Amino acid sequence: MAVFISHSEEETFSWAKRFAASLNPGDTVLLEGGMGAGKTVLAKGMIAGMGISDEVTSPTYAYVNEYGGRVFHFDCYRVESEAQAYGLGLADYFERGGVCLVEWGEKIAGLLPARVRRVRILGSGDEREIVF
Ligand SMILES: Nc1ncnc2c1ncn2[C@@H]1O[C@H](COP(=O)(O)OP(=O)(O)OP(=O)(O)O)[C@@H](O)[C@H]1O
Ligand SMILES: [Mg+2]
Repeated sequence: MAVFISHSEEETFSWAKRFAASLNPGDTVLLEGGMGAGKTVLAKGMIAGMGISDEVTSPTYAYVNEYGGRVFHFDCYRVESEAQAYGLGLADYFERGGVCLVEWGEKIAGLLPARVRRVRILGSGDEREIVF
């Protein structure tokens, strides 16, 4: 495990953009941390780092946003149950060979692939700790 100390949203974004170089098709990354910790900032950096220039917005309503058919950004905060998530087809995204970036993955723990990577962001104020 390693730690990066970020002093701003921009530093978190840049760190995530660099981190994306280590991602391979088929990887699932759990973005962990409390509300407002910076999970979506991490996702934005990673998506940019994978060469996608689309605007990235938080998928709070649709649960999953898709980028170029190869990156899937989940926000499961509002998922009601694993059965609901399964019924909506969320499990299928893990089989598509893309990179899955998952916020609030604990809500769909039973649907996640066996092998996942984790990036945790902690803290409040401008200084955040990124554990990876
Ligand atoms: N060092 C930092 N890294 C990331 N975000 C930071 C940092 N300092 C301040 N912020 C602010 O923290 C907030 C992080 O918001 P973000 O939407 O990424 O959180 P989140 O973890 O996705 O929350 P949610 O659980 O609601 O989805 C932003 O308002 C951002 O500007
Ligand atoms: Mg978020």
